[in-house]
Amino acid sequence: KIHPVILCGGSGTRLWPLSRKSYPKQFGRVFGELSLFQRTAARLSGPDFAPPMLLTTSDFRFIVGQQLTEMGMEPGRILIEPAGRNTGPAILAAALALRDTPQALMLVAPSDHLIADEEAFRAAVRAGAAAAAEGRLVTFGVAPDRPETGYGYLELDEADADGPVRPLRRFVEKPDAETAAQMLASGRFLWNAGIFLFSVGAALEAYRAHAPDLIAPVRRALEEGREDLDFFRLAEEPWLAARDVSVDYAIMEKAGNLAVAPLGGGWNDLGSWTTVWRETGPDADGVALSGEATAIDCRDTLLRSENEGVRLVGIGLENIVAVATRDAVLVADMAQSQRVREAVAALKAQG
Ligand code: GDD
Ligand code: MG
Repeated sequence: KIHPVILCGGSGTRLWPLSRKSYPKQFGRVFGELSLFQRTAARLSGPDFAPPMLLTTSDFRFIVGQQLTEMGMEPGRILIEPAGRNTGPAILAAALALRDTPQALMLVAPSDHLIADEEAFRAAVRAGAAAAAEGRLVTFGVAPDRPETGYGYLELDEADADGPVRPLRRFVEKPDAETAAQMLASGRFLWNAGIFLFSVGAALEAYRAHAPDLIAPVRRALEEGREDLDFFRLAEEPWLAARDVSVDYAIMEKAGNLAVAPLGGGWNDLGSWTTVWRETGPDADGVALSGEATAIDCRDTLLRSENEGVRLVGIGLENIVAVATRDAVLVADMAQSQRVREAVAALKAQG
């Protein structure tokens, strides 16, 4: 069985004010009745999967269990990170927690993405599993449609061009704008969806080879950690000593044994309000409305009211994101929607 490892410790600041420190976007109902986290867990359940291992922070330890119970699912182990140390240490902690079964496959997934075509996703996972069982580090690739600089890029190898899983020549994390444009134009690259499939043994091997400094602190954090109710708390002191680095920089950019399973369309990481606008389904004028919202003579605009009873009206707007919640309103230039995280930082500084 494949062990899902679901990363649910992020704070999703770029979707403020929908996403809050106390209730980040993965736990909210961004689209539909289930939260993004619940949809992720459901997607990774069934006969092929063990119960999911969850990696989160102390703040969300009850929410994750509660949201799974609501759906009639049981969590596997819940590892609590004393602080966010990024995905490099987090994924290593999961691999070390599973080290007694080096042949087992782990599927690492963020909890805040949308995948529209579940069947295509499952097919990609099945195809990837065979390559992962042979020791490859399997990534999932999405056809790019813009020179996005916030993603990793996967360079396909010409060899085996028709297989369901293709060898990778190179992994490039977050290129600058010029490089991203070149990669898009070349037609040889896919976006990294941020989902990974590998055997526990291959993961540990990769960390040993490419990020050996992470191993001692993360191993100690596990050895010195403690059970607490249904949770396992990683020990704080060694955990904080681990370098803050993403798995993309620590491992994927350096490893040679990479492969990619192409995902069909329908993947969206909901990384900014622009991606939410796209997913909401803009009409011919580019207007996307959600909740009690009305647009008059607007173009390329997202109007989203989170609160029943609060009507949001836009008149003559162009390239605007407006989001109204119970206690906060965001109005921003769509092209600058990445900068919402600056607003969150500024608000935090004000206390
Ligand atoms: N548990 C836990 N602990 N989860 C974390 C931590 C942590 O310390 N840090 C990040 N995560 C979670 C985030 O919540 C998110 O779901 C996922 O791990 C990826 O982290 P991001 O910070 O969102 O990464 P990114 O978007 O900049 O880039 C990654 O995702 C892109 C696709 O969305 C990379 O993998 C890129 O290559 C990729 O294209
Ligand atoms: Mg992200």
